[in-house]
Amino acid sequence: MAQVEIMSAANLEKMRASCQLAAQCLLMVGPKIRAGVTTDEINKLVHDFVTANDAYPSPLNYRPSGAPRPFPKSVCTSINEVVCHGIPGKRTLNHGDIVNVDVTTYHKGHHGDTSVTFYVGEPSEQAKKLVETARASLEAGIAAVKDGARLGDIGAAIQEVAEGRGFSVVEDYVGHGVGREFHMAPQVRHFGKRGAGERIRAGMVFTIEPMINLGKKGTELLDDDWTVVTQDRSLSAQFEHSILVTKTGCEVLTSRPGIAMNSEDKEWSEVGPLGTAAAFAARHPG
Ligand code: MF3
Ligand code: CO
Ligand code: CO
Repeated sequence: MAQVEIMSAANLEKMRASCQLAAQCLLMVGPKIRAGVTTDEINKLVHDFVTANDAYPSPLNYRPSGAPRPFPKSVCTSINEVVCHGIPGKRTLNHGDIVNVDVTTYHKGHHGDTSVTFYVGEPSEQAKKLVETARASLEAGIAAVKDGARLGDIGAAIQEVAEGRGFSVVEDYVGHGVGREFHMAPQVRHFGKRGAGERIRAGMVFTIEPMINLGKKGTELLDDDWTVVTQDRSLSAQFEHSILVTKTGCEVLTSRPGIAMNSEDKEWSEVGPLGTAAAFAARHPG
Protein backbone atom coordinates (compact mmCIF):
# COMPACT_ATOMS: atom_id res chain seq x y z
CA MET A 1 0.00 0.00 0.00
CA ALA A 2 1.16 3.51 -0.77
CA GLN A 3 2.80 5.45 2.04
CA VAL A 4 0.23 7.18 4.27
CA GLU A 5 1.00 10.85 4.76
CA ILE A 6 1.37 12.52 8.14
CA MET A 7 0.03 16.06 7.81
CA SER A 8 2.32 18.92 8.83
CA ALA A 9 1.12 21.43 11.44
CA ALA A 10 0.96 24.22 8.85
CA ASN A 11 -1.17 22.15 6.48
CA LEU A 12 -3.36 20.99 9.34
CA GLU A 13 -4.54 24.54 9.95
CA LYS A 14 -5.57 24.78 6.28
CA MET A 15 -7.26 21.39 6.47
CA ARG A 16 -9.19 22.47 9.57
CA ALA A 17 -10.45 25.55 7.75
CA SER A 18 -11.60 23.55 4.72
CA CYS A 19 -13.30 20.92 6.88
CA GLN A 20 -15.13 23.54 8.93
CA LEU A 21 -16.37 25.18 5.74
CA ALA A 22 -17.80 21.84 4.59
CA ALA A 23 -19.44 21.39 8.01
CA GLN A 24 -20.96 24.88 7.84
CA CYS A 25 -22.30 24.07 4.39
CA LEU A 26 -24.25 21.10 5.78
CA LEU A 27 -25.67 23.34 8.54
CA MET A 28 -26.81 25.73 5.77
CA VAL A 29 -28.40 22.92 3.72
CA GLY A 30 -30.32 21.26 6.58
CA PRO A 31 -33.16 23.79 6.94
CA LYS A 32 -33.72 23.77 3.15
CA ILE A 33 -34.55 20.06 3.05
CA ARG A 34 -38.28 19.60 2.46
CA ALA A 35 -40.71 17.90 0.06
CA GLY A 36 -40.82 19.56 -3.37
CA VAL A 37 -37.18 20.70 -3.43
CA THR A 38 -35.16 19.30 -6.34
CA THR A 39 -31.66 17.95 -5.96
CA ASP A 40 -30.58 20.56 -8.53
CA GLU A 41 -31.71 23.21 -6.02
CA ILE A 42 -29.54 21.58 -3.33
CA ASN A 43 -26.66 21.58 -5.83
CA LYS A 44 -27.07 25.33 -6.40
CA LEU A 45 -27.22 26.05 -2.65
CA VAL A 46 -23.99 24.12 -2.10
CA HIS A 47 -22.23 25.50 -5.18
CA ASP A 48 -23.06 29.10 -4.29
CA PHE A 49 -22.09 28.68 -0.62
CA VAL A 50 -18.77 27.02 -1.38
CA THR A 51 -17.73 29.45 -4.12
CA ALA A 52 -18.78 32.45 -2.00
CA ASN A 53 -16.35 31.25 0.69
CA ASP A 54 -13.14 31.16 -1.32
CA ALA A 55 -13.46 27.46 -2.07
CA TYR A 56 -14.10 25.10 -5.00
CA PRO A 57 -16.66 22.25 -4.83
CA SER A 58 -14.36 19.22 -5.19
CA PRO A 59 -16.92 16.95 -6.93
CA LEU A 60 -17.42 19.34 -9.88
CA ASN A 61 -15.66 17.81 -12.91
CA TYR A 62 -13.86 15.35 -10.62
CA ARG A 63 -12.54 12.43 -12.66
CA PRO A 64 -10.64 9.74 -10.77
CA SER A 65 -8.28 7.69 -12.96
CA GLY A 66 -10.30 5.06 -14.79
CA ALA A 67 -13.63 6.88 -14.50
CA PRO A 68 -15.32 7.12 -17.90
CA ARG A 69 -16.67 10.62 -17.29
CA PRO A 70 -16.22 13.44 -14.78
CA PHE A 71 -18.79 14.03 -12.05
CA PRO A 72 -20.98 16.81 -13.50
CA LYS A 73 -22.23 18.61 -10.35
CA SER A 74 -20.93 20.26 -7.18
CA VAL A 75 -22.33 17.89 -4.53
CA CYS A 76 -23.58 14.31 -4.28
CA THR A 77 -27.27 13.88 -3.40
CA SER A 78 -28.25 10.27 -2.73
CA ILE A 79 -31.95 9.55 -2.16
CA ASN A 80 -33.39 6.34 -0.63
CA GLU A 81 -31.93 3.34 -2.54
CA VAL A 82 -29.00 5.43 -3.79
CA VAL A 83 -25.93 4.35 -1.80
CA CYS A 84 -23.61 7.21 -2.86
CA HIS A 85 -22.56 9.51 -5.73
CA GLY A 86 -26.11 10.50 -6.67
CA ILE A 87 -26.06 13.24 -9.33
CA PRO A 88 -28.27 16.27 -8.64
CA GLY A 89 -31.03 16.73 -11.19
CA LYS A 90 -34.76 17.23 -11.58
CA ARG A 91 -35.77 14.57 -9.03
CA THR A 92 -37.75 16.17 -6.21
CA LEU A 93 -37.61 15.20 -2.58
CA ASN A 94 -40.82 13.52 -1.45
CA HIS A 95 -42.31 13.29 2.03
CA GLY A 96 -40.80 10.23 3.72
CA ASP A 97 -37.59 10.17 1.66
CA ILE A 98 -34.12 10.10 3.15
CA VAL A 99 -31.36 11.98 1.34
CA ASN A 100 -27.62 12.02 1.90
CA VAL A 101 -25.89 15.28 1.01
CA ASP A 102 -22.13 14.79 0.62
CA VAL A 103 -20.14 18.04 0.54
CA THR A 104 -16.46 18.31 -0.28
CA THR A 105 -14.73 21.70 -0.26
CA TYR A 106 -11.35 22.50 -1.79
CA HIS A 107 -10.06 25.43 0.26
CA LYS A 108 -6.51 26.59 1.00
CA GLY A 109 -5.24 23.62 -1.02
CA HIS A 110 -7.09 21.03 1.09
CA HIS A 111 -10.22 18.91 0.67
CA GLY A 112 -12.76 18.74 3.52
CA ASP A 113 -15.22 15.85 3.05
CA THR A 114 -18.38 15.27 5.11
CA SER A 115 -21.95 14.10 4.67
CA VAL A 116 -25.26 13.84 6.51
CA THR A 117 -28.42 11.88 5.76
CA PHE A 118 -31.45 14.14 6.12
CA TYR A 119 -35.10 13.24 6.68
CA VAL A 120 -37.73 14.67 4.34
CA GLY A 121 -40.65 15.04 6.74
CA GLU A 122 -41.27 11.88 8.74
CA PRO A 123 -40.11 8.62 7.14
CA SER A 124 -41.07 5.04 8.03
CA GLU A 125 -39.95 3.47 11.31
CA GLN A 126 -37.59 1.25 9.31
CA ALA A 127 -36.03 4.26 7.60
CA LYS A 128 -35.55 6.03 10.94
CA LYS A 129 -33.88 2.96 12.42
CA LEU A 130 -31.60 2.65 9.39
CA VAL A 131 -30.53 6.30 9.45
CA GLU A 132 -29.94 6.28 13.22
CA THR A 133 -27.92 3.09 12.86
CA ALA A 134 -25.76 4.67 10.16
CA ARG A 135 -25.24 7.68 12.45
CA ALA A 136 -24.34 5.44 15.39
CA SER A 137 -22.02 3.31 13.27
CA LEU A 138 -19.97 6.36 12.28
CA GLU A 139 -19.75 7.38 15.95
CA ALA A 140 -18.58 3.85 16.83
CA GLY A 141 -15.97 3.93 14.06
CA ILE A 142 -14.70 7.31 15.28
CA ALA A 143 -14.51 6.02 18.86
CA ALA A 144 -12.17 3.22 17.70
CA VAL A 145 -9.58 5.66 16.33
CA LYS A 146 -6.35 6.38 18.17
CA ASP A 147 -2.60 6.22 17.61
CA GLY A 148 -1.58 2.56 17.47
CA ALA A 149 -5.03 1.15 16.72
CA ARG A 150 -5.60 -0.70 13.46
CA LEU A 151 -7.87 -0.02 10.52
CA GLY A 152 -9.66 -3.30 11.24
CA ASP A 153 -10.70 -1.92 14.65
CA ILE A 154 -12.68 0.81 12.90
CA GLY A 155 -14.35 -1.57 10.45
CA ALA A 156 -15.22 -4.06 13.17
CA ALA A 157 -16.82 -1.36 15.35
CA ILE A 158 -19.00 -0.17 12.45
CA GLN A 159 -19.96 -3.68 11.38
CA GLU A 160 -21.00 -4.67 14.92
CA VAL A 161 -23.38 -1.73 15.22
CA ALA A 162 -24.92 -2.21 11.77
CA GLU A 163 -25.20 -5.98 11.74
CA GLY A 164 -26.24 -5.98 15.40
CA ARG A 165 -29.36 -4.09 14.33
CA GLY A 166 -29.99 -6.38 11.37
CA PHE A 167 -28.60 -4.18 8.60
CA SER A 168 -25.71 -4.71 6.17
CA VAL A 169 -22.49 -2.78 5.51
CA VAL A 170 -21.56 -1.81 1.94
CA GLU A 171 -18.13 -3.22 1.05
CA ASP A 172 -17.73 -1.80 -2.46
CA TYR A 173 -16.98 1.80 -1.34
CA VAL A 174 -14.62 2.85 1.44
CA GLY A 175 -13.35 5.79 3.44
CA HIS A 176 -10.06 7.30 2.32
CA GLY A 177 -7.10 9.46 3.15
CA VAL A 178 -7.98 13.09 2.44
CA GLY A 179 -6.09 16.37 2.41
CA ARG A 180 -4.11 17.81 -0.46
CA GLU A 181 -5.81 15.15 -2.59
CA PHE A 182 -9.52 14.24 -2.56
CA HIS A 183 -8.86 10.49 -2.35
CA MET A 184 -5.58 8.98 -1.20
CA ALA A 185 -4.17 6.20 0.97
CA PRO A 186 -5.25 4.61 3.24
CA GLN A 187 -8.46 2.84 2.23
CA VAL A 188 -10.73 2.73 5.27
CA ARG A 189 -13.04 -0.27 5.12
CA HIS A 190 -16.28 -0.16 7.10
CA PHE A 191 -16.02 -3.85 8.00
CA GLY A 192 -13.17 -5.94 9.34
CA LYS A 193 -11.61 -7.71 12.28
CA ARG A 194 -10.23 -6.18 15.47
CA GLY A 195 -6.41 -6.26 15.54
CA ALA A 196 -6.19 -6.71 11.76
CA GLY A 197 -5.09 -4.28 9.06
CA GLU A 198 -2.66 -1.41 8.91
CA ARG A 199 -1.70 0.44 12.09
CA ILE A 200 -2.98 4.02 12.31
CA ARG A 201 -0.71 6.78 13.54
CA ALA A 202 -1.15 10.25 15.03
CA GLY A 203 -1.14 12.84 12.24
CA MET A 204 -2.95 10.69 9.68
CA VAL A 205 -6.07 12.28 8.20
CA PHE A 206 -8.81 10.16 6.64
CA THR A 207 -12.56 9.87 6.26
CA ILE A 208 -14.91 7.35 7.81
CA GLU A 209 -18.14 7.14 5.82
CA PRO A 210 -20.13 3.96 6.41
CA MET A 211 -22.94 3.16 3.96
CA ILE A 212 -25.53 0.96 5.67
CA ASN A 213 -28.25 -0.94 3.78
CA LEU A 214 -31.68 -2.08 4.93
CA GLY A 215 -31.37 -5.21 2.77
CA LYS A 216 -28.30 -6.89 1.31
CA LYS A 217 -24.86 -5.30 1.01
CA GLY A 218 -24.56 -5.57 -2.79
CA THR A 219 -24.43 -2.47 -5.00
CA GLU A 220 -24.94 -1.69 -8.68
CA LEU A 221 -23.60 1.17 -10.79
CA LEU A 222 -26.20 2.87 -13.01
CA ASP A 223 -25.69 3.74 -16.70
CA ASP A 224 -24.70 7.32 -15.84
CA ASP A 225 -21.41 5.79 -14.58
CA TRP A 226 -21.73 7.50 -11.18
CA THR A 227 -24.95 6.71 -9.32
CA VAL A 228 -24.51 3.72 -7.01
CA VAL A 229 -27.71 1.95 -5.88
CA THR A 230 -28.39 -1.08 -3.71
CA GLN A 231 -28.65 -4.19 -5.84
CA ASP A 232 -31.92 -5.13 -4.11
CA ARG A 233 -33.13 -1.48 -4.25
CA SER A 234 -33.51 -1.37 -0.46
CA LEU A 235 -32.84 1.88 1.43
CA SER A 236 -29.29 2.97 2.18
CA ALA A 237 -28.02 5.64 4.61
CA GLN A 238 -24.60 7.23 5.17
CA PHE A 239 -22.76 9.72 7.38
CA GLU A 240 -19.19 10.93 6.85
CA HIS A 241 -16.54 12.81 8.79
CA SER A 242 -12.94 13.73 8.01
CA ILE A 243 -10.80 12.99 11.08
CA LEU A 244 -7.27 13.58 12.34
CA VAL A 245 -5.70 10.76 14.37
CA THR A 246 -4.21 11.93 17.69
CA LYS A 247 -2.25 10.20 20.47
CA THR A 248 -5.35 9.62 22.55
CA GLY A 249 -8.13 9.44 19.95
CA CYS A 250 -9.02 11.75 17.13
CA GLU A 251 -10.13 15.24 16.22
CA VAL A 252 -13.30 15.28 14.12
CA LEU A 253 -12.21 17.95 11.63
CA THR A 254 -15.69 18.25 10.11
CA SER A 255 -17.55 18.37 13.45
CA ARG A 256 -20.45 20.78 13.18
CA PRO A 257 -20.69 23.87 15.39
CA GLY A 258 -24.44 23.34 15.59
CA ILE A 259 -27.23 20.85 14.96
CA ALA A 260 -27.91 19.61 11.43
CA MET A 261 -31.59 20.44 10.97
CA ASN A 262 -33.87 17.75 9.51
CA SER A 263 -31.45 15.14 10.82
CA GLU A 264 -29.97 15.70 14.29
CA ASP A 265 -32.91 17.79 15.49
CA LYS A 266 -35.54 15.07 15.15
CA GLU A 267 -36.94 13.68 18.37
CA TRP A 268 -36.19 10.17 17.15
CA SER A 269 -32.53 10.99 16.37
CA GLU A 270 -29.83 9.58 18.62
CA VAL A 271 -27.19 12.27 18.43
CA GLY A 272 -24.06 10.40 19.44
CA PRO A 273 -21.77 11.57 22.25
CA LEU A 274 -19.34 12.96 19.66
CA GLY A 275 -22.13 14.96 18.03
CA THR A 276 -23.23 16.89 21.09
CA ALA A 277 -22.47 20.55 21.75
CA ALA A 278 -20.52 19.54 24.89
CA ALA A 279 -18.33 17.18 22.87
CA PHE A 280 -17.78 19.90 20.31
CA ALA A 281 -16.65 22.33 23.02
CA ALA A 282 -14.28 19.70 24.41
CA ARG A 283 -12.65 19.37 21.00
CA HIS A 284 -12.31 23.15 20.64
CA PRO A 285 -10.82 24.36 23.93
CA GLY A 286 -10.69 28.14 24.30
N1 MF3 B 1 -17.52 12.83 -1.36
C1 MF3 B 1 -17.41 11.48 -1.85
C2 MF3 B 1 -16.60 10.72 -0.82
O1 MF3 B 1 -16.98 10.75 0.30
C3 MF3 B 1 -16.79 11.38 -3.20
C4 MF3 B 1 -17.62 11.96 -4.26
S1 MF3 B 1 -16.81 11.80 -5.75
C5 MF3 B 1 -17.87 12.60 -6.77
O2 MF3 B 1 -15.56 10.19 -1.03
F1 MF3 B 1 -17.22 12.80 -7.87
F2 MF3 B 1 -18.92 11.87 -6.92
F3 MF3 B 1 -18.22 13.73 -6.25
CO1 CO C 1 -15.17 10.69 1.35
CO1 CO D 1 -17.85 12.58 0.84
